[in-house]
Amino acid sequence: MQLSDKKATLSLSDGSASVEFPVYQGTIGPDVIDIRKLYGQTGMFTYDPGFLATASCESSITYIDGDKGQLLYRGYPIDQLAQNCDFMDVSYLILNGELPNAEQKREFDSLVTNHTMVHEQMQMFLRGFRRDAHPMAVLTGLVGAMSAFYHDSTDITNARHREISAIRLIAKLPTLVAMAYKYSMGQPYIYPQNDLSYTGNFLRMMFATPCEEYKVNDVVERALDRIFILHADHEQNASTSTVRLCGSSGTNPFAAIAAGVACLWGPAHGGANEACLQMLEELQANGGVAKVGEFMEKVKDKNSGVRLMGFGHRVYKNYDPRAKLMQETCKEVLGALGLENDPLFKLAMELERIALEDPYFVDRKLYPNVDFYSGIVQRAIGIPTSMFTAIFALARTVGWIAQWNEMLSDPDYKIGRPRQLYTGHAPRDIAK
Ligand code: CMC
Repeated sequence: MQLSDKKATLSLSDGSASVEFPVYQGTIGPDVIDIRKLYGQTGMFTYDPGFLATASCESSITYIDGDKGQLLYRGYPIDQLAQNCDFMDVSYLILNGELPNAEQKREFDSLVTNHTMVHEQMQMFLRGFRRDAHPMAVLTGLVGAMSAFYHDSTDITNARHREISAIRLIAKLPTLVAMAYKYSMGQPYIYPQNDLSYTGNFLRMMFATPCEEYKVNDVVERALDRIFILHADHEQNASTSTVRLCGSSGTNPFAAIAAGVACLWGPAHGGANEACLQMLEELQANGGVAKVGEFMEKVKDKNSGVRLMGFGHRVYKNYDPRAKLMQETCKEVLGALGLENDPLFKLAMELERIALEDPYFVDRKLYPNVDFYSGIVQRAIGIPTSMFTAIFALARTVGWIAQWNEMLSDPDYKIGRPRQLYTGHAPRDIAK
C-alpha cells in the first residue's frame, strides 16, 4: 500500500475545523481514503451498508475491474489461466503468489493427493443427517466438523498448522462433497484414488460405484477443472468477507471456512447457480423459448419478485469474463456429449440475447455472470442441481484460505467490528 500525494479533506457544515485523511494507492484500481482516525477526530462514523464504497482490507490476490469485465488472479487474466493451467496450478498461484515450476507442481500435487482421504469416523457424523438434507446444509456441518476431527492443526499462531489445515481443506473438500452426494443417493462412498488428477478423482468419487470401473471422460474432466478455476477466488465477495470476519476473531480455519460455506449458500451469491438452473427448467416446462418475452416482463416488474438469475453483479458492470469462458465450455461439453440441441442451453442463449438488447438490462448494466452457464455444464456432466453450490464451495475453498492467510499475516489485522447508526429507543426506565 502506497501513500498518495493526494489528501482527502472533510469539512462539515457546522463550522468545525476541516479534517484531513491520507489517501493510499494500489497497483491498479481506485485509491482509498484512510478513515481510521475519523471517529477519533470527528466523533462520527461512515455509513455504508452493503459495503458499496468500502475497502475492508488490503489484498494482493485477486483484482476485478468491473467496468472492463476483467478478472486477474495474482495479475494473470482469468482467460489465460483457464486456457493454460489446471486447477492445481491456479490453487498454487492463489496460495503462493506465483505459478509453480515443474518441481513445485509435482510437490504440491503430491501434497494435496496425500491428504484426500478423510477420517473414517466422518462417515458416522454424516450418517446423522437426513438423506434428503440439502448438500450445502451437510457441507456446512462437515467442514465445521473438521475442526473436531483435525484439531491437531487448529493453532492459528503456528505456521505449520496453518499450512496443514490449508492443504487438508483443499484436498478433502472434493471427498466430502462426493460423500454428501453418495449419502443422498444411498450409494456407498467411493474412496479417493490418488493416481487420478484432482478433478478426475472428484468425478470418480461422485460417479463410480463398486460394481464397475469408472473411466474419466477427458472433456468432462477439463470442463469441471475449468469450473473450479473460474470459481477459485473473487476478491472480497460476501463469503470471502465472511471468512475474513469470522477468522478475525482468531477462530480456527475450519470454523472460518464453514462460515464461508454457509454464506455462499444464499441465492444472491453461490446459490444462484442452482436457482438459475431451476429458473431455466421451470421456464422450459412452461413453454420454453416461446414464453421468454412474457418471463422477461415479469423480471422487469419490481412487484413480481422475479429476478433473472445468473444476471447482474455488484462489481461487474460489463460481461463477467467467467461467463464468457463458461459459455464456451458449455458449447464444448454439450458437443462432446452429443447434447448440441440441449433445450436449456438454447433457452439461456435466447434469454441472454433478449436481455442484452433490452433497455432495462442495458441501463442497469446487467450482464450474464458466471452462474448463468455453469449450471447447464454441470447438468450435462450429470451433477444434480442441488449439488451445484457445493461444487462452487469446493472450488472457492482455496480462495478463502488464501484470503484468510493473507489477513493473518497483515500487520494491520484486527478483529472485524463494524459500527452502527443506532435508531432504537433512547435510554428509558421500566414502568413500575
Ligand atoms: N434481474 C432483474 N433485475 C436485476 C437483477 C436481476 N438478476 N440484478 C439486479 N437487478 C436490478 C435491481 O432490481 C436494481 O434495479 P433498480 O435500480 O431499478 O432498483 C438494479 O438492477 C441494481 O440491482 P441491486 O440488487 O441493487 O444490485 P446489487 O449489486 O445489490 O446485487 C446481485 C447484485 C448479484 C445480488 C443481483 O444482480 C442479483 O440478485 N442477481 C441475481 C442473482 C445472481 O445471479 N447472483 C450471482 C452473482 S455471481 C456469483 C457470485 O459471485 O456469487
